[in-house]
Amino acid sequence: MSGPVVMKSGDVPRYAPGERVTHWIVAITFVLLALSGLAFFHPAFWSLTAVLGGGVWSRILHPYVGVVMFVFFGLMALKYWKDNLIQPYDRAWQKRLPDILNNNDHGLPEIDKYNIGQKQLFLAWVVSMVLLLVSGVVMWRDVASFPVPVIRIASVVHAIAAVVMILGFIVHVYSAIFWVRGSMRAMTRGTVTHGWAKHHHPLWYRRVTGGGK
Ligand code: HEM
Repeated sequence: MSGPVVMKSGDVPRYAPGERVTHWIVAITFVLLALSGLAFFHPAFWSLTAVLGGGVWSRILHPYVGVVMFVFFGLMALKYWKDNLIQPYDRAWQKRLPDILNNNDHGLPEIDKYNIGQKQLFLAWVVSMVLLLVSGVVMWRDVASFPVPVIRIASVVHAIAAVVMILGFIVHVYSAIFWVRGSMRAMTRGTVTHGWAKHHHPLWYRRVTGGGK
């Protein structure tokens, strides 16, 4: 991170426009993939193929949309991996989780850009994305031809990785919208308030503002 940053608006910058566009491409492709993927998983969800234009189009498009998600998530992973390395202060912060859940934030260990929950989710997503891509390519009959037993194993791996991603997605969206209030604007406007930054990510706050006001 380069020197201290101050915005004209008085807010603290968190995500540049390119980062936000990348994130929303991942989010939109993820939803399309999760819905069309559920439709392939069980006939009860078949009507969800509508999101990609019906059964035939879903079969054709699902893998291509998957590659798009993988590429854009890859860009995010390259950008954020350093910020998501777990540090000793993250473990100390995690030990105070009961207090945090009870809104007792007094004397919490100071953390950087992300908390340990975000970091663990990031890691789970990186692993799941790789598993989804590899198992997806194995099952993609237009581009690969693997023996049937290998395809069967790939389909189980694909389903498990997808479930991990969907559960992670629910936690991610819940915490972005309801739990950590004031987070959404980081991914919409690109900025957070000084209060939010100081309260949730004091080390990061000092790093980007040089101490803040
Ligand atoms: C509608 C769905 C989504 C919403 C509302 C949402 C919201 C957000 C918000 C508000 C942030 C900023 C959090 C912060 O800076 O503390 C964020 C960061 C992030 N989001 Fe999402 N997101 C969504 C979908 C996704 C999906 C599907 C993925 C990936 C599969 C994803 C991956 C990430 C990552 C990697 C970050 C950076 C934080 C980190 O590295 O841990 N998001 N999201």
